[in-house]
Amino acid sequence: MSAIIEIKKLTKQYADGYRALDDISVQINEGEIISLLGPNGAGKTTLISIICGLTTLTNGSVTIAGFDVVRDYRKTRSLIGLVPQEMTLEPFETVLGTVNLSRGLFGKKQDRAHIENILRQLSLWDRRNTQIRELSGGMKRRVLIAKALSHEPKILFLDEPTAGVDVDMRRDTWTVIKDLKRRGVTIVLTTHYIEEAEEIADRVAVINGGKIILIEEKNELMKRLGTKQLCVELEKPMTDIPKSLIRFDIQIENSGSRLLYRYDASMKSTDVHSVLAALATENIVIKDLQTYESSLEDIFVDLVAKEKN
Ligand SMILES: Nc1ncnc2c1ncn2[C@@H]1O[C@H](COP(=O)(O)OP(=O)(O)O)[C@@H](O)[C@H]1O
Ligand SMILES: [Mg+2]
Repeated sequence: MSAIIEIKKLTKQYADGYRALDDISVQINEGEIISLLGPNGAGKTTLISIICGLTTLTNGSVTIAGFDVVRDYRKTRSLIGLVPQEMTLEPFETVLGTVNLSRGLFGKKQDRAHIENILRQLSLWDRRNTQIRELSGGMKRRVLIAKALSHEPKILFLDEPTAGVDVDMRRDTWTVIKDLKRRGVTIVLTTHYIEEAEEIADRVAVINGGKIILIEEKNELMKRLGTKQLCVELEKPMTDIPKSLIRFDIQIENSGSRLLYRYDASMKSTDVHSVLAALATENIVIKDLQTYESSLEDIFVDLVAKEKN
């Protein structure tokens, strides 16, 4: 996998002295979906703004396909599409006009087929002659995506793409993002909405207080830090855990009518099997069984809580 964005020892100090980014080094690979995950104020928008050349950096460097975002600004900007966090659309312009204009701003020749293709993909083609002010919030957001794709960028940045949108629109946006990836676009998205990262990211970078505190393949992360729980409802309540079961990390709950067994998500199912086998040996009758798996959200809350201590 080759890196398309290289961020080295990046620091950002705002004019008021606030250090929003503190010595960040990250490589973003061509063709991946990477999610920058972090609470409000973590520095996500600042990081994206620097990569996109909208904010100056204080120290360090960022290159895109080998071009420096400060020195080769025009070149790097042409490789990037940005869907900003804030709505930035002209209310009286039409959908088609908005998207065509955006392409023009990058000095690219008109390309009707390309623009039609984008608008169709985003289910906006039928609304191409509608004024922006007449569109729903969800559609406006799709216009922002179409705008960002108008000049055929290799990398698409989405800053909080589904903040404040309804569930259907959120799912639609995820489908659009996955489609773009399939067509080779590298995608960087920020979110404080963890389910979003869990749903679509290949890799997750957790950013907190201007530092990257973790960066890892999502599936690896969930295996490494995730836990599972086996919950056993018993026919007859038990007061003490039988000797043969003490070696497992089992707790009694609900006045003895429920057993809870916690284990790492990376463990093999044989561990669960051993617990169940031990219960059978003890002639303990099971009424019901459930398993739970921790979500990326649980893992994330734990991580940030640990940072604070
Ligand atoms: N123009 C600015 N001047 C001073 N501080 C800023 C400015 N923009 C953002 N910040 C501060 O930098 C920190 C990171 O902000 P931001 O990058 O917007 O975080 P996020 O997008 O993760 O919510 C916040 O504490 C914010 O208040
Ligand atoms: Mg932000």
